[in-house]
Order: sequence, then C-alpha cells, then structure tokens
Amino acid sequence: MTSNHVVFFDTTLRDGEQSPGCSMTTQEKLTMAHALEDLGVDIIEAGFAMASEGDFAAIATITQAIRKPRIASLARAKTEDIEIAARALQFADRARIHVFLASSDLHLEYKLKIGRQEALDRTAESVRLARSLVDDVEFSPEDATRSDRSFLIDMVRVAVEAGATTINMPDTVGYTTPEEYAQMFRDVRERIPAIDQQNIVLSSHCHDDLGLAAANSLAAIQAGARQVECTINGIGERAGNAALEEIAAALYVRSDYYGSTSSIKLDQLYPTSQVLGQIITFKPSPNKAIVGANAFAHESGIHQHGMLANPLCYEIMTPALVGVSRTHLVLGKHSGRAALRHRLEQLGYTLSREELQQTYYRFVALADRKKNIYDQDLVSILPDPIRERRGETVSELG
Ligand code: KIV
Ligand code: ZN
Repeated sequence: MTSNHVVFFDTTLRDGEQSPGCSMTTQEKLTMAHALEDLGVDIIEAGFAMASEGDFAAIATITQAIRKPRIASLARAKTEDIEIAARALQFADRARIHVFLASSDLHLEYKLKIGRQEALDRTAESVRLARSLVDDVEFSPEDATRSDRSFLIDMVRVAVEAGATTINMPDTVGYTTPEEYAQMFRDVRERIPAIDQQNIVLSSHCHDDLGLAAANSLAAIQAGARQVECTINGIGERAGNAALEEIAAALYVRSDYYGSTSSIKLDQLYPTSQVLGQIITFKPSPNKAIVGANAFAHESGIHQHGMLANPLCYEIMTPALVGVSRTHLVLGKHSGRAALRHRLEQLGYTLSREELQQTYYRFVALADRKKNIYDQDLVSILPDPIRERRGETVSELG
C-alpha cells in the first residue's frame, strides 16, 4: 500500500442512518454492510451501540457476518458508552471504538455545560479506557472547524497522548471551506509532531450544509488526511455527509492531480447506491453526481451529437467505470437530428435525409408538449410509409 493510500471509513450505517427517512432494521443494515464489503470500504461504522438496543444488535450482528472491513461503533466520552461499544464489538476480527467529545466553546458551554479543562480530562480518560478495551481507537473533537484553534490542538494532543490511533477532524455543521479545512490539517500536523512520528492517521469528516463536503474532504486529503469519512449517496444529518462515490470517483478520475489510491471497487458504486435506495425512503436526486439517474444522460442536441461522435466530448468517465450499464441519450425538445436518427435506427427504422427532416419537425412539436418522449411516441410520429417499411403499425406497438 502506498503512503498516498486513502482509507475509506463508511458511516452510512451511523451518521447516514441518523437522518430523516434513513433508519434501518438490523437485517437492512446487514444487507448494506455486505454491499459495503463488496464495494471495498476499509471500515464500516455500524452504529452507535449506546443509542438503542437495535443499534447494539446491528453492530453485534455485523461483526459476526462481515470479515474484511474493520467494524466501528461510535461512543460519547463516557464510561458506559465505551464499555457498551466494546461489548457490541466483542466478536469483530478487527474492532474500532470511535470516541467523540465537542471541542468548540459553543458546544461545551451550551450543550455539555462543562469547561475546557473538564473536556481535556474527559478526553484523556475516555481514550485511555477505550484503548484498554481495543487496540484501535479513533477520537473526534466534535465541531472542530468552529473551535478555538489552540484549544483544539490541546485536545488532539491529549487524545494522542492517551493512545488514540486515528484523529478525526469533523466539520460537524458543514461550515468550513476547502482551503481553511486543509490549513487545519496542516496546523495539527505541524503543532503535534507525534502525529507523523507515531504514524497516527488523520481523518476528514465533512457535512454538506454549504455543498462543500466532497471538496473539503479532498482538500483534507491533499493536506495529509489519510482517512476519509463518508456515506453512500451522501446521506446524513441535515444536508448530508460527504458522498463516498464523489470522493472515490474524484480520486480516480483526477489521479493525475491527487496522486492517491483507494481500495474502492469503482464498478460497485452504482450497485451499492441502488441497494441503499431500496432500503431507505428516498433515492438520490436525478442530478446527483455519479449515481443520479441523469449522471450519464444527455438531452441537448449539441451534447448528443458530440457524444455520438466521441463520448469523451461530454463524459469524464465511462458509465461502466462506476457500474452504470450505459449512457442514456434522452430525447427531448433540446435534442437534435443526430440523436433522433440514432434512436430510430436502434428501433429498426432507417430514414432518408428528407424523411428524417420531416420526422424531426414532428418530433420537436411533440417534445414541446410532452416532458418525456418514449419509443412509442417516436414510432407514432413516423410517416406511414416508413412504419410500413418495417412492417409494423402503431397499434402493434401498443
Ligand atoms: O459530524 C460529527 O461531528 C460527527 C461526529 C460524531 C464524528 O458525526
Ligand atoms: Zn457527522
């Protein structure tokens, strides 16, 4: 594995599940965990063991069925949370306890009602306890991006000294920007040399409130993050988490720029997205990058013409790369003659130049009235002699 290898930590079953319309039964989580294993993720955060009996059961079940990825449970910086997480993980081949505690004054004062010193003490105690139970402990200073930088660094230093093996830097409320987030990683590495000396993994964890989650995650990777936390279809609190498929595809398509590798099997991205879409209550929006229904669809005439000449004109990756079976040339009012001819030929109709022109006028008039044009619509606007030439009538086509 190269030093530029990015570890994918999937939190679809924890941060993702924690959002409206996304709750999953143990069986559904198990189905999803198998899909994530096939996708090649390195770590599955299977839940928050203390949150409910259901979460505990799901984590325990997943540890017994899934062998390749490491399995993690979230825990607050509290003894009972950490002990329950360890119990849920007891059958895992490789377990991780993920401890979090807020580092911003806003959260400390209003949510936890504790001071900075108490937060540092709790960090040390909880990471030490977790390390006495498992050898892989991640610590997250929650709301890191809105925390006083020097206090944040104190907290991370305490966690490192107490034995944390991964330090995750959450942009809990999706507030940061790529350059600012990257600078935070550079600061932490510079001010705590033990991170690089002891090979401690820095991790990014971004939310999408400003639509910057994937960009921020990629900026963190450039600044030394070796783990990225993300979810399938970008599900998660509020506007969601960084979308796994966007980061994995960006690292591959722009490997010239990022120079990083991952274990993600790209052709499983779309199938995994589909599995999730069938489990939760909504599918990705049609214009969602990589996995949306329109991610490889082209309607405008200029684009369709370019696509037919050479797909590279308008596609930066083949649909097959991410597991989508084919590019879709959608016929609509912006389409041109080239795409119309192409589709009619696929349907078995070869038109002369004049016939195509005549059919094209009818097609544009229809597309002005109708949002979706189906194959039957196309056949119905063909002049009679053309239809008869193929020996079919509209009624036969239904
Ligand atoms: O967004 C966040 O801060 C989290 C932590 C619990 C890691 O999800
Ligand atoms: Zn989160």
